[in-house]
Amino acid sequence: QKNTRFNIAIDGPAGAGKSTVARHVARKLGYIYIDTGAMYRAVALHMLEQGIRPSEPSKAKQAMKDIRIELLPGEDGQRVLLNGLDVTRQIRTPEISLMASQFAQHEDVREQLVAMQRELATKKGIVMDGRDIGTIVLPSAEFKWFLTASVDERAKRRYAELKDKSEVTLEQLKHEIAERDRQDENRVISPLRQAEDALLLDTTHMSIDEIVELMVKETLSRIEGE
Ligand code: DC
Repeated sequence: QKNTRFNIAIDGPAGAGKSTVARHVARKLGYIYIDTGAMYRAVALHMLEQGIRPSEPSKAKQAMKDIRIELLPGEDGQRVLLNGLDVTRQIRTPEISLMASQFAQHEDVREQLVAMQRELATKKGIVMDGRDIGTIVLPSAEFKWFLTASVDERAKRRYAELKDKSEVTLEQLKHEIAERDRQDENRVISPLRQAEDALLLDTTHMSIDEIVELMVKETLSRIEGE
């Protein structure tokens, strides 16, 4: 294997398997995984704690001044610290999912998080997943993927992940995912869309292992061809 290190951008709608896949791909390549959705989720939790609603952009802007987010490698995935406190689990509720998608519409929120994400990626060898990585955050990433799957399949995957941890139903998840798709695709700033040079992968009928294997193989062959 050559020493060339790529930055890999993975975008797509909620529940397409991006974060699981990204984590595995990063581990196989010896890269660092960065979950940008977790940052938007931490912002949402911070706002919730401060009693700030998505309809209050100037308060939100102010509150962004005293927010510190850290992503640390953990045993089963990445840990998320908000102002020094571990919020890894707390940010995974359906309520925070929707709020994250709403605060993600705020220009100040995006500006601050995008700056942080670019900073984290200055040293190559990053796998970053989100909604605007290939288009806005890392437009010159060496490899870009856009993962999709049907809404039904995405809700089922989320359900399998959450059913032991929460009371949520499959119907609720389907509704939440469809609502977030709508919000993420239609927002004014950096809406969810496939970068022109991204590879589209419909994962509806693929297992996590198959997706990971394909992505690692494609990445290594592209590095070989450099
Ligand atoms: O990837 P996720 O489901 O954890 O992301 C939660 C929300 O954060 C998502 O619905 C929209 C927002 N988000 C974003 O706007 N841009 C990103 N790069 C990542 C997430």
